[in-house]
Amino acid sequence: MARILLAVPPGAEPRLERELERHGHTRVGLSGRDPAGQILPSGCDVVVVSATPAYLGVHLLAASDAAGVRVVGLIGSDADRRHAAGVGLAELAAADDRWEVIEALIAGEDPVTEEAEQAPRAGRVIAVWGPAGSPGRTTLAIAIAAEIAAAGHTVAVADVDTYSGSVAPALALLDESPGFAAACRLAGAGALTRAELERIGSRYLSGHGSFWVLTGIGRPSRWPELSGERVAATLRACREWVDYTVVDTGFSLENDEEISSDLFAPRRNAATITALREADQVIAVGSADPVGLSRFLRAYVDLVELILTTPVTVMNRIRSGAVGPGPAAQVGQALRRFGGIDDPVLVPFDLPAFDGAVLSGRSLRDAAMRSPARQAIGRLVESRILPTSAARVTRRSLHGRRSLPHDSQDWGPGIGPHGGPDVVR
Ligand SMILES: Nc1ncnc2c1ncn2[C@@H]1O[C@H](COP(=O)(O)OP(=O)(O)O)[C@@H](O)[C@H]1O
Ligand SMILES: [Mg+2]
Repeated sequence: MARILLAVPPGAEPRLERELERHGHTRVGLSGRDPAGQILPSGCDVVVVSATPAYLGVHLLAASDAAGVRVVGLIGSDADRRHAAGVGLAELAAADDRWEVIEALIAGEDPVTEEAEQAPRAGRVIAVWGPAGSPGRTTLAIAIAAEIAAAGHTVAVADVDTYSGSVAPALALLDESPGFAAACRLAGAGALTRAELERIGSRYLSGHGSFWVLTGIGRPSRWPELSGERVAATLRACREWVDYTVVDTGFSLENDEEISSDLFAPRRNAATITALREADQVIAVGSADPVGLSRFLRAYVDLVELILTTPVTVMNRIRSGAVGPGPAAQVGQALRRFGGIDDPVLVPFDLPAFDGAVLSGRSLRDAAMRSPARQAIGRLVESRILPTSAARVTRRSLHGRRSLPHDSQDWGPGIGPHGGPDVVR
């Protein structure tokens, strides 16, 4: 049995001490003292340390290495996880994990790695597309990512819109150095690793579920950096990095090969077309008004020709003001009649919620949890994107973050002011 030195805040000591003794270990050393200086005098075999800068530093790791002592870090937040990664500590458990997880790390097993080895990671790619006219691709992509993250999965939003990348401004993130273009550059050189993705990626932090963002090109003139091959290679790397990559695409599906006779000329729509072809699932968004519907139906024909899967159609901004009374039924009928689309997901027009989100640079989930649009998108994610059991079962991500099960109580029955039917089928 091990002699364990605890280097954790005083509030966390009693539980850990109780648990370690229950498992036959002995606590050694004194609390509140410099842990690095106690490693040798205490004769410990293991240090269990809170992964905050106050407790975990390079001195502690150097002293443990010198003494041949194993170190297990306890992470309580994303900042802790980043700090641990920064100092190079990989043996990590969540601060509120069961002792058995810490026990496995003490024993030199890595339960997470074993699990990963049994089932090699193959994250899913979800592409969000919509025709010209801002139907809400970016809005939907961010809202979907936030819902998936809240269900306990690791998520990245990738902005591949070569006309008007806008994920960064929508989340109030700096977009001086476009993350997706940087990833493409490294992918082109065969050097895009998980560590590089985490260096390049921005982090949207939220108590409901944080996610990564690979920001888009701020200047549209940079589109040649997003070539088809590079986008495909970057998405492949993303699959190994996170559980879900949500791609915000451009609108145009024109295959520039047919327009330009120069075979080697770069192609502006290659990023969108590649992302759509690579995606496991495509979410096709249209705006639920006469102009938006007709644009959607015309472009939808090209979309289904391009991709191998059946897209999930989302009609956004459902409101009676634009299509008359009973907008859900009207829109459903138009889609069935003119597009052969049977089961659209309808998201209501919800200006206060989206304005609140964009004003505060937060996801819809964080800005307006109970808004009708958020509820509709939450149900879209649960019923169409996540595997049904995984949406409810608490699971652990590779980073050890504790997942939150969906709180179904927050989901009301209707779509809001127009009192339409239950809009997500
Ligand atoms: N359901 C909705 N209700 C009200 N406003 C919406 C809705 N969906 C999107 N918006 C707003 O429409 C604008 C354009 O959306 P955006 O996602 O940027 O479009 P796209 O990416 O397709 O160009 C944004 O200001 C967004 O807040
Ligand atoms: Mg957009």
